[in-house]
Amino acid sequence: MILITGASGQLGDSLQRLARARNLAHLAVSRPAFDFEHPETIQSTFTAAAPTIVINAAAYTAVDAAETNEPAAIAGNHTGPATLAALCAGASIPFIHVSTDYVFDGTKGAPYIETDPTNPTGIYGRTKRDGELAVQNACPNSIILRTSWVYSAHGKNFVRTMLNAARKTISLRVVADQRGSPTAADDLAATVLNLITTWKETGWHESYQGIYHATGTGDTTWYDFARAIFESAKTCGLTAPSITPISTADWPTPAKRPPDSRLDCAKLETIFRERLPNWTASLPAIVAKLLAPEHNP
Ligand SMILES: NC(=O)c1ccc[n+]([C@@H]2O[C@H](COP(=O)([O-])OP(=O)(O)OC[C@H]3O[C@@H](n4cnc5c(N)ncnc54)[C@H](OP(=O)(O)O)[C@@H]3O)[C@@H](O)[C@H]2O)c1
Repeated sequence: MILITGASGQLGDSLQRLARARNLAHLAVSRPAFDFEHPETIQSTFTAAAPTIVINAAAYTAVDAAETNEPAAIAGNHTGPATLAALCAGASIPFIHVSTDYVFDGTKGAPYIETDPTNPTGIYGRTKRDGELAVQNACPNSIILRTSWVYSAHGKNFVRTMLNAARKTISLRVVADQRGSPTAADDLAATVLNLITTWKETGWHESYQGIYHATGTGDTTWYDFARAIFESAKTCGLTAPSITPISTADWPTPAKRPPDSRLDCAKLETIFRERLPNWTASLPAIVAKLLAPEHNP
């Protein structure tokens, strides 16, 4: 039985839908029943579920709010996941955890590999990095997938923000000097479940444990991502706003973002034969879903 945490989030939602579609026995939990800020709920959920694998899709993901709410970010990204990982270790079951491109400062000038030194520039990134280390210490049979720029038809994300903005304004300014890889939550969920299928077939190998980069293939800037969103939206009948490229300096945020957080995903392909689709391939279906009448009653 797979225990999926963060069921109300983008990745948690995708994991549940896909696990259902694949007939995989699973239990998906979210707050308040499972809350990293209330550690007793971690233990009680784990005991009640008696899982054979845990996928942690729960996290404190509010990058800017983390700057003024460090205790919640620590609980959601570091100490909570470490407690869950320790329970997995105690039960001798594998733990799949999700981390972020924001563990890097974005100054490498090339795609990061898993062993590159981390240097987060904000509290969100730092707590996620601390979580990675704590999870690995607590549970040797853990896999950590670093992903980036996650979007889906469910929850808060850049695609939804752009489409909502397009309904309210005829011109937008979008940052054009930050580079990364958009990742559809459904694509990441498929990869996670494929990993589980692989190790069910092969048995758990020590070589599986560790950190992997897992993002949509290809990369872009927020500005070009916005342009692609509106290209898709136009085919669904939305009138696209004009977009002006701006620099990070023109759009100050409480947390500093990495300027270039591309992640090299070759290790995932080498070890697990997994490669996420190109981000441009997955985008149109999500845009169409977000513009569908049931999303906009
Ligand atoms: N979104 C991105 O662009 C992005 C980029 C890189 C990496 N990631 C990583 O990818 C993973 C999935 O992200 P996502 O986009 O699916 O996030 P999301 O949509 O923000 O969902 C986060 C989930 O975590 C839950 N959560 C928050 N605080 C919690 C706590 N204290 N205890 C238990 N659950 C808590 C949320 O519950 P509520 O609904 O109750 O708030 C929600 O179910 C995370 O590890 C994230 O760090 C995301």
